[in-house]
Amino acid sequence: MCGIVGVIGTAPASPLLLDGLRRLEYRGYDSAGIATLVNGHIERRRAEGKLVNLANLLNASPLPGVTGIGHTRWATHGKPTETNAHPHGTARVAVVHNGIIENHAELRAELESQGQRFVTETDTETVAQLVDYLLAQDMEPIEAAAVAFGRLEGAYALALVFAGHPELIIGAQKGAPLAVGFGDEEMYLGSDALALAPLTRRIAYLQDGDWVVLNRQSAAFFDRENQPVVREMRLTNLTGAAIGKGNFRHFMEKELHEHPVVIGDVLHRMIDAGTRMPVLPEMPFDLAAISRITISACGSAFYAGLTARFWLESLAKIPTDADVASEFRYREPPLETSGLGLLVSQYGETADTLAALRYMKSQRQNILSVLNVPESSMARASDAMLDTIAGPEIGVASTKAFTAQLAVLAAFTLALARARKILPDTEIARLTDALLQIPAKAAEVLANDAPIKALARRIAEARDVLYLGRGACFPIALEGALKLKEISYIHAEGYAAGEMKHGPIALIDKSVPVIAIAPSGPLFEKTASNLQEAAARGGQIIVFSDAEGAAKLRNIAAETVIIPDTDPFAAPILHAIPVQMLAYYVAILKGTDVDQPRNLAKSVTVE
Ligand code: AGP
Repeated sequence: MCGIVGVIGTAPASPLLLDGLRRLEYRGYDSAGIATLVNGHIERRRAEGKLVNLANLLNASPLPGVTGIGHTRWATHGKPTETNAHPHGTARVAVVHNGIIENHAELRAELESQGQRFVTETDTETVAQLVDYLLAQDMEPIEAAAVAFGRLEGAYALALVFAGHPELIIGAQKGAPLAVGFGDEEMYLGSDALALAPLTRRIAYLQDGDWVVLNRQSAAFFDRENQPVVREMRLTNLTGAAIGKGNFRHFMEKELHEHPVVIGDVLHRMIDAGTRMPVLPEMPFDLAAISRITISACGSAFYAGLTARFWLESLAKIPTDADVASEFRYREPPLETSGLGLLVSQYGETADTLAALRYMKSQRQNILSVLNVPESSMARASDAMLDTIAGPEIGVASTKAFTAQLAVLAAFTLALARARKILPDTEIARLTDALLQIPAKAAEVLANDAPIKALARRIAEARDVLYLGRGACFPIALEGALKLKEISYIHAEGYAAGEMKHGPIALIDKSVPVIAIAPSGPLFEKTASNLQEAAARGGQIIVFSDAEGAAKLRNIAAETVIIPDTDPFAAPILHAIPVQMLAYYVAILKGTDVDQPRNLAKSVTVE
């Protein structure tokens, strides 16, 4: 996905736009650019690569003007070159865009036949050329924008500025978020509240199909029928400080250290301290009547969903399916109308997960989403939402949001087990107690990072790494492998430990570290056997376990990371932390860009 900002005020726009883009860079960082109105004309500065390249260009060649728009790009159509960098435009209009214009080819052919000259291969330029064509037909900017928006198909958040109109910015949203910020004699547009946090906490969100006309004092909102509407202005709890790195070297390091607080906040909100019973917000459906749960998500969020599937079936005894959203949305499984669709997403804008949600709705499922952004598209499309309250997660690799999702899903499982009268309150209280011990144990893991740092030196030398787990820890093996891949660029695979003998054991030799997520519990001995098989073939066995488990595997382990003992129910949450720490320390050794790994973006809002 991309990030867009807009400013209309009295101070120079360029530094404000750049600061807003800095806060959006985690959304995409292939190229960046801004456009301002200078003496009524549109001027642009664009640069390939990270935002720092644009900042250097602006230092060398400043851009005046108090009205402007900016963009940081994760390339979808067209290579990440300066030519394809936003803003796109003509002498009359400049546009920045997040999303995909799905009918761009058809519009482009029509516009070219009408004499419009395209200079890029991007879908975004189609918007600029369409508005330009309408302006050339003597339409006023507001009318031209409204007509153009009516022609666009696909997903977009847009901001436009117009030559000769320094008092005007127009924004539009359909399938990708856009927020209006209210300043003093200054108004803002941003892809989310994060971008606007240093400027204002007074925010109003557009709804899908909305467009908005800004001048420096106010915002006029219109709906998809071009009728004036009111969109509520609210105060965000985001401040500039909340989204800084503090004393940490990377956002990811800061967010790793937030695990204890975030898990604690979730559990204290979802477990009654007096009764020790799980509590859920009001939902517009009867949980006890749910016959089946269908989970869908992407990436780490999917691994949280996989863990939840294990919990829901083993503890709440409810049939549960889980599938990655990019597969689920096209599989189109028939679903029972009394089912629950359960979506998991940090940012709440992931295109595939939104499509899975829409399919579940078409199958008349009750829709519950586990989200970290309550104003997101997914929140608005759901019947109910469980907030992971993890605060902004800026590092592209998901860390605290993942364990917050697990904590929410663990508490939800117990609430469901209780509603379905599967577990007695005594057992539920025992399990909630186990959960409530996690924050302190998480802090212990973070404090004792020496063995993980030492292990990172071994892993950094590897070309291929295997992560093994069983049961609810199998998804944690997947998560460990994903983290290593996405921030250190080392190939890694997460595997069900029991599956090794069905093929992957052929990969084992002395060059392959085999990392086992193996807490003590009913499946420990089975995992231990799998590790013996791998050790017999020369694999480097690395064990993540509690002291008891580690002692049992001492004879084959090349290295061991001792994790505080915990109930097997809570173990996946706790073990997620050291595997993420390991990936972080390996990435440091590899010298990769930890917070903004190559080719990635924080939320994938396109298919
Ligand atoms: C996780 O480290 C990745 N950055 C990625 O897999 C992410 O979890 C996935 O894209 C889903 O994002 P979401 O939770 O915002 O939907």
